Amino acid sequence: MIRRLLAGYLSITLFILVVLEIPLGISFARLQRNRLIADVQHDAATIALFSEPRLEAKDAAGLQRVVDAYRARTKGRVVILDQVGILRADSDSRGAPVPARDFSTRPEVQRALGGDEAHGFRHSTLLGQDLLFVAVPMNSGGIVRGVVRITYPSSVLATTILRSWALLVGLALLILAVVIAVSFRLARSVLAPLHDLEDAAARLGEGDLKARAKVPRAPRELTVLAQEFNATASKLARLVDSQARLVADVSHQLRTPLAALRLRLEMLEADIPRRAHEDYEAAVAEVHRLSRLVDGLLMLARAENRPSARERTDVGAIVSGRRAAWLPLAEERHVNIAVEGRLRAFALVTPGNLEQVLDNLIANAIDVSPENSTISLRIEPPTAELEGRWTTVHVIDQGPGMSLERRVSAFDRSWRVGDSEGTIGGFGLGLAIVRQLVVTDRGEVELLEADGGGLDVCVRLSAATAPRRRPIVVRSAEGEGGSASEAARTAAKARVDQLVSN
Ligand SMILES: Nc1ncnc2c1ncn2[C@@H]1O[C@H](COP(=O)(O)OP(=O)(O)OP(=O)(O)O)[C@@H](O)[C@H]1O
Ligand SMILES: [Mg+2]
Repeated sequence: MIRRLLAGYLSITLFILVVLEIPLGISFARLQRNRLIADVQHDAATIALFSEPRLEAKDAAGLQRVVDAYRARTKGRVVILDQVGILRADSDSRGAPVPARDFSTRPEVQRALGGDEAHGFRHSTLLGQDLLFVAVPMNSGGIVRGVVRITYPSSVLATTILRSWALLVGLALLILAVVIAVSFRLARSVLAPLHDLEDAAARLGEGDLKARAKVPRAPRELTVLAQEFNATASKLARLVDSQARLVADVSHQLRTPLAALRLRLEMLEADIPRRAHEDYEAAVAEVHRLSRLVDGLLMLARAENRPSARERTDVGAIVSGRRAAWLPLAEERHVNIAVEGRLRAFALVTPGNLEQVLDNLIANAIDVSPENSTISLRIEPPTAELEGRWTTVHVIDQGPGMSLERRVSAFDRSWRVGDSEGTIGGFGLGLAIVRQLVVTDRGEVELLEADGGGLDVCVRLSAATAPRRRPIVVRSAEGEGGSASEAARTAAKARVDQLVSN
């Protein structure tokens, strides 16, 4: 935007300068030419005045002194000719005797011998250059006694004209520099409120609901825009806040009675007659499912409402931790989990998000993995191919995979209970939660077909640089569960319970 404004200001200034300076330069050149001719005319008339008595008295030395004095002051050549055009003094003789050369063939001399002053430019074939000439007659009592002719190489005038053009160009450059400086300041002051607004919009987009734009006093359009933006942001913050409160309320209002209902049902078990036991078991299972559904929906609602607070995260450590947490359940199902790739990789992620993402993906992978297969957790640090933008984590299983059509719609929230086509019996919320969490942190997630036909879930996270000084920690990809935190174990245990109860 600044560039556009500057280009606008500059093109207007350039137009004005061109329109003004070219005619100015042309008339300046004409002025210089006329002034030079007038000066030379004046010089020739003065020399004629001094020379006439000396010519009359045939004082050759006196004449030579006059022309030498002129030559010493200027670049012009002066010749003094007698009444028939024979050379009597020449400023170019440099002390040598002046030859009696006939100048009467020169047009300007002919004119001057006729009693008229002559001036102008002509080409001298003898000297091989253009000349500015002035020839004046020495009149005495109406009789022409001689002629004074002064010539200058026309390059003298060209140099003067060139100098005046250079002056004009310099002036134009100075004006342009001033215009650039002034318009840059002007453009910045006009754009500053817009940048501020853009900044506030970006922060709001990233989830900072407190982001507000500064309201400029002028121009009026920007004042109104900033006020509108702030009003919209406030409305949005109120809406999100009320939604978050609703989520909290639902959490409280639904989860607690559901837990109480489950407890009461379990307490009833002994009193249930044998023939009703099957129905009783089904009722308990339904309540379990309902609790899980509520938990899943709450998790998704929280993921949607939680603003991103990205921090540099040690991806290798988290992947290893999740592997250790899920390994017991995987082993129960005779499935192996392996970590591959470079463990020293970092990404910008909101704390807790990557763990949740991996939990959902590993749970899905375990659900579909056949016995004696391996789930690979592969970490790829940023590559130049992707401009170093992403740290990538792949969760690859050797299960049945998904058709292209299912891969396209898999991230939509959908009810998967009793679904056909190899459903793993959940609620269809896991992948929706994964996408929400990854997108919140400005990452990407994609479902690919793995080499062996299974599913390859590719999670791309904004790459972060490794911390500068960091003690080298050697982690084993095959490490036992001891490296996982207690919290991770508890979470995994809960997940295992869920899956087992499924
Ligand atoms: N690794 C996988 N291989 C094959 N199909 C998968 C895989 N992961 C997910 N799916 C399919 O995608 C569907 C949606 O998965 P998602 O995780 O969203 O829900 P869910 O696992 O069914 O339920 P929830 O995660 O909410 O308990 C699954 O039901 C399953 O059909
Ligand atoms: Mg799932």
